[in-house]
Amino acid sequence: MLFGVANVTAADLERGKTLYSQICFTCHGPTLDGGIGPSLKDQYWHHGSSPSAILDVIDHGVEGSEMIGYKDVFSEVDRLALRDFLLSQQEGVREMIRSIYPPEFFKEKRLTPDLFKTGESTSQTLLPENWIYMPRNAVGVIRVTAKVHIQKPGSYHFAIRRLGRTAVYFEGEEVHYSDDSKPKGDDFNKALDLKPGSYTFEILHTEKKSHAYRFHGTLTGPAGTRFPLSGRSLQGNIPKIIVAGPEVKIVRKWIKDLPPRALLCLLPNKVIVAYNTVDGSILKAWHSAEINQTPSLPDRSQKQSEINGTEISESTRPILKSSNIEFIAYESKGDKALIHSVVDGKPTTVTLVPQSDNSFTISIQ
Ligand code: HEC
Repeated sequence: MLFGVANVTAADLERGKTLYSQICFTCHGPTLDGGIGPSLKDQYWHHGSSPSAILDVIDHGVEGSEMIGYKDVFSEVDRLALRDFLLSQQEGVREMIRSIYPPEFFKEKRLTPDLFKTGESTSQTLLPENWIYMPRNAVGVIRVTAKVHIQKPGSYHFAIRRLGRTAVYFEGEEVHYSDDSKPKGDDFNKALDLKPGSYTFEILHTEKKSHAYRFHGTLTGPAGTRFPLSGRSLQGNIPKIIVAGPEVKIVRKWIKDLPPRALLCLLPNKVIVAYNTVDGSILKAWHSAEINQTPSLPDRSQKQSEINGTEISESTRPILKSSNIEFIAYESKGDKALIHSVVDGKPTTVTLVPQSDNSFTISIQ
């Protein structure tokens, strides 16, 4: 087993690396840390972190984005080599699956993975994949299974905030146990001497009474390596709503049912226009609107934002008709939103202007 996928050879990885540096690097960067496309080696995957989810994006692309599908471009062997190369470059926590179990069964028991195999604990709620933050009002025992990809050899240990009861199992073996109702000296913490590779671990955790779980931990390794194991609850003091201001605001947020790369233009009259930079169409528009952005993870959020407002239906129509549109830049100029593109080789600017209380006009130059 190498990095979570069976039967990967060094030749496969070399092949994947070659293909990556021929095509993918232009958007994802020579060291995979992003450019036009997102970083492919940070903690956050929009489309899932499992080998099959990653292969699915490589095969089929992401509609409405620059990420095309490579199913008809590369053979299956090559696409698998690309996937395995990406996986071999990962560092940190991946493929996290988290569930919350009703607390009663676990009362007064030492938390072990075996407890979860019993019939009493099958009523778990699965939490969203690869979303490290905790939901609000979670009550129960949380069980996290995940893989960690290690690149740097050396001594690692789990540093857990001492809160409630926490057990950590690494490759099936207990490596951490703490219980804040017991003296600190009773805690158990084992250092791990790790070689590069992929390992499984499991966190079992419960807190007494909490409206928002406060579990927090990291896997700490050589030379300042720190992999966060969980974030705090979704509740926080992050500004969550983007409202219209005196100047146009243009933002990119992932909104349900819209391509992730749509431009959201918030005009000063509280009209929001979602513009598709790929085909030059207006995807949707709303009046009396604002953007409710869910807690921003440092980089890419796993949860979509949403638009609160009243939909303006008639504006949902294509405005630039060509299959040859290249988006260049956007600009906010006072109360106007300017979107610069090249259409059939000709520089073109789409201008969105607020009109009365609840509409907008479009002009194309
Ligand atoms: C023209 C630019 C471009 C090229 C070339 C490109 N990508 Fe992408 N890729 C993107 C963009 C943009 C996204 C983000 C799509 C989205 O979710 O909006 C993306 C997303 C992805 C994702 C999903 C990331 C996630 O967070 O889930 C994977 C995996 C990926 N690309 C792999 C590849 C591979 C492998 C290649 C080379 C065969 C490649 N890409 C080539 C632009 C590109």
